[in-house]
Amino acid sequence: MRIDIITCVPDLLQSFFQHSILKRGQANGVIEVYVHNLREFAVNQHGQIDDYAFGGGAGMVMMIEPIDRCITALKAERHYDAVVYTTPDGELFSQETANRFSLFGNIIILCGHYKGVDQRIRDQFVTHEISIGDYVLSGGELAAAVISDAILRLIPGVMNDETSALTDSFQDGLLAPPVYTRPAEYKGWQVPEVLLSGHQAKVDEWRMEQSLLRTKERRPNLYSNQTEIHF
Ligand code: ADE
Repeated sequence: MRIDIITCVPDLLQSFFQHSILKRGQANGVIEVYVHNLREFAVNQHGQIDDYAFGGGAGMVMMIEPIDRCITALKAERHYDAVVYTTPDGELFSQETANRFSLFGNIIILCGHYKGVDQRIRDQFVTHEISIGDYVLSGGELAAAVISDAILRLIPGVMNDETSALTDSFQDGLLAPPVYTRPAEYKGWQVPEVLLSGHQAKVDEWRMEQSLLRTKERRPNLYSNQTEIHF
């Protein structure tokens, strides 16, 4: 999978992708991430990429021409399955969306900034408008990082233990159960006995109970969707 991110602050994203599992995934050759500086496609020598809004009002609007140039240059090289635009008025991102996107080959993510992009960009180029939550960030870069991370960690070869993505919170619509490691006792605080029992069926049963309990307490909406399946 290849992700191309278009941003006017590439430094914000460069270091993010040079760390941890995403670095390994790129080293293994299973994923590719490219960060493009929108200013390189600016309309003049001053690097201009935004302008005042027609009709007035506070805040600048990202211009159509630099974004068109950048997206058109990328599309001339390869086919893209999705052009994602990060914006607080987009569809709410979820594990289900990450799963769906992880099946794509090539994705462009366009980071919004200021008052957003000229609407014609959204109309002509963008296939998916995504929000990562009901709050407003100062730019779409953190959203692009969140979306990329959630998608790329699902690609086989990115994580050490490929099966572990399947047991994440949300993968089965439930929150993940608690986990413990050595020592089995610390300052008198004990690890639940069942996890030390070596009885795998009992361990699995305990984990499912804990998942259901956590989901019921913390995310009642998710829980009510689940009860028909597990009972
Ligand atoms: N840009 C600013 N806020 C955002 C959000 N909540 N999600 C995605 N992009 C954004």
